[in-house]
Amino acid sequence: MATWSDIESIERSTLTALFEAEPDRLSRLVVEEAGIRFDLAKTHLSRPLLDGFLALAEANGLSAARERLFTGAVVNPSEGRAAEHPAERGQGAPESVARASAFRARMRALIDAIEAEALGPIRHVLHIGIGGSALGPELLLDALGRDADRYDTAIVSNVDGTALEAVFSRFDPQATLIAVASKTFTTGETMLNAASALAWLEENGVDDPYGRVVAITAAPDKAVEWGVDETRVLPFAESVGGRYSLWSSIGFPAALALGWAAFEELLEGAAAMDRHFRLAPPERNAPILAAFSDLFYAQLRHCETRAVFAYDERLRLLPPYLQQLEMESNGKRVTADGAPLDRSSAPITWGGTGTDAQHAVFQLLHQGTHLVPVEFVAVIEPGHALDEAHHRALLVNAFAQGAALMQGRANRQDPARDYPGDRPSTTILLDRLDPARLGALLAFYEHRTFVSATMIGINPFDQFGVELGKEIARSIEQDGTGDFDASTRALIERALG
Ligand code: F6P
Repeated sequence: MATWSDIESIERSTLTALFEAEPDRLSRLVVEEAGIRFDLAKTHLSRPLLDGFLALAEANGLSAARERLFTGAVVNPSEGRAAEHPAERGQGAPESVARASAFRARMRALIDAIEAEALGPIRHVLHIGIGGSALGPELLLDALGRDADRYDTAIVSNVDGTALEAVFSRFDPQATLIAVASKTFTTGETMLNAASALAWLEENGVDDPYGRVVAITAAPDKAVEWGVDETRVLPFAESVGGRYSLWSSIGFPAALALGWAAFEELLEGAAAMDRHFRLAPPERNAPILAAFSDLFYAQLRHCETRAVFAYDERLRLLPPYLQQLEMESNGKRVTADGAPLDRSSAPITWGGTGTDAQHAVFQLLHQGTHLVPVEFVAVIEPGHALDEAHHRALLVNAFAQGAALMQGRANRQDPARDYPGDRPSTTILLDRLDPARLGALLAFYEHRTFVSATMIGINPFDQFGVELGKEIARSIEQDGTGDFDASTRALIERALG
């Protein structure tokens, strides 16, 4: 049975040496799937390392874990449930797929009714939600909705009233629909923002403010109790995790603004990636290979971060989306059995957009003391009609950075101008940015996260780490300066009186 020690003992080479020694690197480490090229050739995955990871994956039961994910088995043991986001794309246990499709039909019927102006002449949509109930739809709208003029949509997540106020000043209350998205329908920030949005409708003369609210939740009873009519509640399954939920009714504002056909294409693209992940052999499987590379840097090279740069303005929200997906999923310190994790969990995901980031943070990537595996995400077809020089410059820069990180340039006379090189990168290149390819890309990241979790033995589907802060916030609200440390008490007194 292969172990981590076996992989640790495998000899390592520099990237340049690997390209010389392994002329077949591109055919082994580049995978093209669903209109996306995943190029892992500029990572340190050598043939022996890859073989080592494949053996470790087998020893850690990756294939069986993957089947468990797709068949609705309990893969989230701390909460005793399945993780059924693939069922939203038609890939899963038949009863889960049927339930997801019934919920989707309900969403479609409501969208048809909104389009037919059954809720009045809606022009603006204010979507209120946070974390997984906001980041996914926001990314979809920002990436794909730039030309969409069906509905003017705003996503508000922060409890800071500045965010809501900005929308109030722009939207016509008589033509605004409010979507309250919360899996639990208890999240403090969302419920406060929802109450303020309702009050705004009321203050501005909307006769039946609740009649303008759509609730999106896995707790439909709570939404009804809060005041939303059952006909405008769009449920999704409890077994769909928040950060995996954009495929469900959480995608409502995107489906409304982009149109139903686009939403279905998104799901189909994700389903294509699901099939690839489930059926392709591990050595040609994009999410599996990418996870091996992540594990190599986090576990064997002890990299504490990984950086993702979208070389496309339309994907500028990809890094924050991935931060939740990867860090909330795999930032854990115990195994799925509750034993202490004897290795690093997920690295810190960070990033930005290219080329902006080149002029701000790339200095550290090229010459800093930290080793940071970098990911470039780019699109061959431009998203604008300006002179092709713009898009050419964008892509040229992305490719140049990858080459520069790897090659480096020695300068013995002037150490400040010396580039060590041998710095790894992955390039993900989409043919074009459309709903199907974006769906496939996001499903790729979900599965990559799942593979990493399985290989280190953690449960990627719970997030208890977020609870303590919420609890303390509630007790500050209730007890004022009660039983807290001196610093916290003084801050409360100074700012909250
Ligand atoms: O606090 C973290 C979290 O629970 C995320 O996992 C989730 O996506 C977000 O809050 C929002 O939760 P809800 O959809 O229940 O409002």
